[in-house]
Amino acid sequence: MIILIGGEKGGTGKTTLATNLAAMRALAGHDVLLIDSDPQGSANYWAQNRDELTIQPRVACVQKFGKGLAMEVKDLAKRYQDIILDAGGRDSVELRSALVVVDKVYLPIQPSQFDVWTLNSMNALVETAKGFNPTLQAKVIISRASTNPSVQESEETRKLLTDFPNLEPLELIIRDRIAYRKAAKEGLAVTELKPKEAKASEEMTALYNEIFNHE
Ligand SMILES: Nc1ncnc2c1ncn2[C@@H]1O[C@H](COP(=O)(O)OP(=O)(O)OP(=O)(O)O)[C@@H](O)[C@H]1O
Ligand SMILES: [Mg+2]
Repeated sequence: MIILIGGEKGGTGKTTLATNLAAMRALAGHDVLLIDSDPQGSANYWAQNRDELTIQPRVACVQKFGKGLAMEVKDLAKRYQDIILDAGGRDSVELRSALVVVDKVYLPIQPSQFDVWTLNSMNALVETAKGFNPTLQAKVIISRASTNPSVQESEETRKLLTDFPNLEPLELIIRDRIAYRKAAKEGLAVTELKPKEAKASEEMTALYNEIFNHE
């Protein structure tokens, strides 16, 4: 399966989700490749750090940029069971190119009106990409939501997500938790942290199952 974590808004947790999913897929025994198509290189730094700390299983990671990305991904898909692509937080040639070859794109947004507005253009990009990639599935996931139960932002944001015919809103929510930052720093997925981080592990496992449960 080829998965893209993308979107036009910065800092929504794309790299966090991509690195967690890649490590979790590797832990489940799959031959997975993480592709970092953001010149900032955060996913690549995470994978390098994981290598330097000799954490097993290893997560293979390559950096690929430019409009040739689609061809590269198609080629790499012959050699890996799964590919997880991390795209930067803007409309880029990499984002557009990747949309043509991936099976599913996940669009994390923070529960904010500013993030919801960026979905208008994502909806249009997905529509165009579907012309070349008719089976493309695009799903929006609320990310970095408050853990405070009195904050209703996620529910309010979810109501706004019904306006985009090409984008399917997901029920599950990724919340803002220290565990994600801790795992990122240590080259880990939240499910690998010791002591166990139950809540973060549960929500990442829910996302993992949503993506890979049919395989
Ligand atoms: N669920 C979360 N809980 C806590 N911190 C988070 C979470 N998701 C992301 N962060 C933190 O927020 C910051 C931005 O996250 P990240 O780099 O994953 O976002 P991004 O969408 O990839 O950003 P960019 O658009 O720059 O590529 C990082 O410091 C990261 O550790
Ligand atoms: Mg990123």
